[in-house]
Amino acid sequence: MNKTSVLFVCLGNICRSPAAEVIFRDLVSSRGLKDRFFIDSAGTSGFHDGEKADTRMISALKKRDYSQTSISRKFIKNDFNKFDYIIVMDESNYQNVLKLSSDPDRSKVLKMTDFKSPKNDRYDHVPDPYFGGDDGFYEVIDLLEDCCANFLKSINS
Ligand code: 4NP
Repeated sequence: MNKTSVLFVCLGNICRSPAAEVIFRDLVSSRGLKDRFFIDSAGTSGFHDGEKADTRMISALKKRDYSQTSISRKFIKNDFNKFDYIIVMDESNYQNVLKLSSDPDRSKVLKMTDFKSPKNDRYDHVPDPYFGGDDGFYEVIDLLEDCCANFLKSINS
């Protein structure tokens, strides 16, 4: 059976999308679906190419029992050929990804907050924690856990 491929995208690929990647990977593993998915993340900017995730995000994830080891890379046009779903964190990511798309690719691009539960109704994007305090990293993890669970339900039922 073909794997379902999912790419999570933010600006720098060092905070939100690496968190989404590990949260979604652990979720599919916990459901016994590990072999059915290919999961990756990327950033629209390339500012942090080759770097590990932000140390603040790595330690917040560790406190929640996630081990994040990915290396930042830039989102490229060929990702549209490799991935079934491209899940972006905010409107700016959405527009930057769409700029590289051809018409048929557009339907692959979805916003993470499209999958929020009613308890997270106040979010219309995943907030960027980069310039804020530690609390912002935990806020992002909480929101991503909720959205990833609903996204998995939506494609696996
Ligand atoms: P991310 O956060 O898009 O969630 O990885 C950011 C990381 C770096 C920068 C901005 C946001 N930056 O300006 O370098």
